[in-house]
Amino acid sequence: MTLAFNKVAVIGAGAMGRGIAQIATQAGSQVWLYDAQPEATRKAREAVCQQWDKLLEKGRLTAEAVAGHKARLLEATSLQDLAGCELVVEAIVEKIEVKKAVFTDLEKVLAPSAVLVTNTSSLSVTAIAAALQRPANFAGYHFFNPVPLMKVVEVIAGLKTDPAVCQRLTDYARQMGLTPVNAQDTPGFIVNHAGRGYGTEALRIVSEGIADFATIDRILRDQMGFKLGPFELFDLTALDVSHHVIESIYHQYYEEPRYRPNVITAQRLAAGVVGKKVGDGFYKYEGGVAQVPA
Ligand code: NAI
Repeated sequence: MTLAFNKVAVIGAGAMGRGIAQIATQAGSQVWLYDAQPEATRKAREAVCQQWDKLLEKGRLTAEAVAGHKARLLEATSLQDLAGCELVVEAIVEKIEVKKAVFTDLEKVLAPSAVLVTNTSSLSVTAIAAALQRPANFAGYHFFNPVPLMKVVEVIAGLKTDPAVCQRLTDYARQMGLTPVNAQDTPGFIVNHAGRGYGTEALRIVSEGIADFATIDRILRDQMGFKLGPFELFDLTALDVSHHVIESIYHQYYEEPRYRPNVITAQRLAAGVVGKKVGDGFYKYEGGVAQVPA
């Protein structure tokens, strides 16, 4: 099968954007990374190149493959640089007005056939598409963290998405080594809807004084077989992402009490104690390793 998208852009070079850029490049596409902070673009490209160097050391990539990947991963300094892209994946802040503004700007520079997708965790694909000239070419493409290790991607059609666009995204997901899953455009799609029980209920257990967060993590990991406990997951996702996701799903379900946000994550977000990426979350991180509280 020919590559579904040869020229791809990733907007937002944070935790998700860099991972998406990595696997899209590995699939054979030419990939432009762009971030509002030029320094973030540079750092993200460096981090992806370091990942490839590690895979080379471990013998999982050849020197030729690494050189090819590095040559195909480019830094963009403005949206104009992305004019020739066939697919643009947005992975910026989880705020609908900011996402709409970026897509509106992108439509002005891209060809009418270009496909635009959002990596939103919780916002309505249909509502973002409503701001666009070409909603048929817009869909949700929801990856998971850390992208190079997580094998599923949710493909979400908005009300006006052309089914051929979803088919092309499905093909491309397989070319990136992922298992695509079609999800309805509902708050949280499949994974973050099911995940409400995991995170929100765990926060209730802590706020009701039943158990502390480290105990809950240990039990769910060791006894129930989850890879990460709910608080380890909060730290990995980071509260500046996941608290907004919790609030967004709650409001979209018309204040359904089961999904009510918790003051614990609101306070921690306000204090900047958001998770592993800042070295301080429910756990403290030294050299990237979680320190379990005594
Ligand atoms: P992040 O905070 O690590 O990175 C976001 C990047 O976007 C930052 O580098 C920021 O400078 C850049 N940015 C912000 N506004 C911008 C704009 N207007 N134009 C260009 N760049 C801009 O965030 P993360 O974790 O990568 O999340 C990004 C998106 O992916 C969010 O929508 C989030 O809900 C979604 N997501 C996050 C997951 C996670 O576990 N962190 C999992 C799945 C989806």
